[in-house]
Amino acid sequence: MDPLLLNFSVNGQSRSISVDASATLLDVLREQLALSGTKKGCDHGQCGACTVLVDGRRINACLTLAAMQEGRSITTIEGLADGDVLHDLQKAFIEHDAFQCGYCTPGQICSAVGFINEGHADAVKSRDAGSDDTLRDVIREFMSGNLCRCGAYTNIVDAIMHVVQERERI
Ligand code: FES
Ligand code: FES
Repeated sequence: MDPLLLNFSVNGQSRSISVDASATLLDVLREQLALSGTKKGCDHGQCGACTVLVDGRRINACLTLAAMQEGRSITTIEGLADGDVLHDLQKAFIEHDAFQCGYCTPGQICSAVGFINEGHADAVKSRDAGSDDTLRDVIREFMSGNLCRCGAYTNIVDAIMHVVQERERI
């Protein structure tokens, strides 16, 4: 099959690259664009290690064809920091010790950005007067697609809670 020309934005930079029609976004990011922060775990949509943001919404890059991203804006873990200043969620994951081996962490953080952008936490705040228990349940539910084999879930929820409570919107 002939390669396709793909024009899209990755971490704020316009890119124009030739991709195989059957290549996943995950493989293109890692192998063609050398953005290895996005991890390949199961490669079958079951672990969330490959989570990136497409136009601000989280997706599993292993289940997504790169060729479908024409004109879209992709953000990977490499694109979250502002120069040397880490994203609030990156800082919170460090402060709350929310990882052990770190393999799932880029996907967890990108997914958490998507979670906050989706407004679930805001809905809890207005509905239940910001009950911490409810908020923790909602975080667990909407982050359930991101597995952590090290079992750092409690600290991951703590880190996300911290950011949710600090700000309304990322
Ligand atoms: S590598 Fe994509 S969900 Fe596991
Ligand atoms: S920190 Fe090791 S898999 Fe999550």
